[in-house]
Amino acid sequence: MSRILLTGGAGFIGSHTAVAMIEAGHSVIIADNLYNSDEVVIDRIEKITGVRPDFRFCDVCDNNQVREIFRENEIDGVIHFAGYKAVGESSEKPLEYYRNNIDSTLTLLEIMREFGVCNFVFSSSATVYGPDNEPPYKESMKKGSCSNPYSWTKSMIEQILTDAAAANPDMSVMLLRYFNPIGAHKSGLIGEDPQGIPNNLMPFITQVAVGRREELTVFGDDYDTPDGTCRRDYIHVMDLAEGHLKAIELAMSSKGVEIFNLGTGVPYSVLEVIKAFENASGIMINYTIGDRREGDLPGLWADAEKAERMLGWKAVRTLDDMCRDSWNWQSKNPKGYKGDKK
Ligand code: UFG
Repeated sequence: MSRILLTGGAGFIGSHTAVAMIEAGHSVIIADNLYNSDEVVIDRIEKITGVRPDFRFCDVCDNNQVREIFRENEIDGVIHFAGYKAVGESSEKPLEYYRNNIDSTLTLLEIMREFGVCNFVFSSSATVYGPDNEPPYKESMKKGSCSNPYSWTKSMIEQILTDAAAANPDMSVMLLRYFNPIGAHKSGLIGEDPQGIPNNLMPFITQVAVGRREELTVFGDDYDTPDGTCRRDYIHVMDLAEGHLKAIELAMSSKGVEIFNLGTGVPYSVLEVIKAFENASGIMINYTIGDRREGDLPGLWADAEKAERMLGWKAVRTLDDMCRDSWNWQSKNPKGYKGDKK
């Protein structure tokens, strides 16, 4: 059993990873300032796994708070999820995004060095491939330029981690480039709970289905794709969570830096996702076709071969599973976690 620190472990991907880690027999500490999550998540993780993760209310930019956690625990590895993640907002608040995302990573790295903790898994994004690479994206491709500060933070942090590992031969760093995580734990107890108007496709669809939003706008149907709408590599969040489990286990038994795409390798269009959701839920989604959204690429999907070969991991859940589980979560929690509050 290893003791793993999950920063941002109360968030969407972090909470599902906590479940996967606990179920695999690891011990989990969640450090989260609940900026974009809710403490109810900790109860829900306990309900699913029968084990209550150790929860620390913590801002990962605050080195005293982080040091306290390392002082009190023998930590074997860190999975760093904490960070701001809204693409559009990052262009309005670039300083906040650079400060928060980069500062939290540097703070963690300095304190890990202080305590001799060497295993690091980072939540990166397919967005670092940029617009000039042709999908399917391979880890060996040169990274591209980014169209927003959020994406730059991911790209810069990858560089920081690579340099830190080059200077410390004991370090092991896994850079996980996520594609489009959707779905939820099959229990419907944890899932994606965005604040305000959702930026991403699936939470928007589920909020229309549950009656919280009038209609979905499909951002453009004049792309050079089979049905004119953009194609993405949607991946079930539990598959993604299991990818983290494999990655931290590999980190603990190796040295150096590895990059892994976590995707299925199969793209679906916006219209295909809507159709699949309608089939899974039995609810018709009210939508209109609108303008293109700035910065959207027509197609973006993974070459998933490296993760299968080196991590022994492959996404196994289908688009139907993703839609069914997203709907199960949203229909059981129409107001998200806030529904629990009086
Ligand atoms: N879309 C709509 N209407 C909406 C929301 C989305 O048509 O209301 C479309 C988008 O145009 C896109 C697709 O649905 O074609 C997926 O959009 P998302 O916003 O769900 O996801 P993105 O691919 O734009 O973004 C995701 C992550 C980012 C990451 C990016 C690139 O959310 O963190 O992939 O890897 F940076």
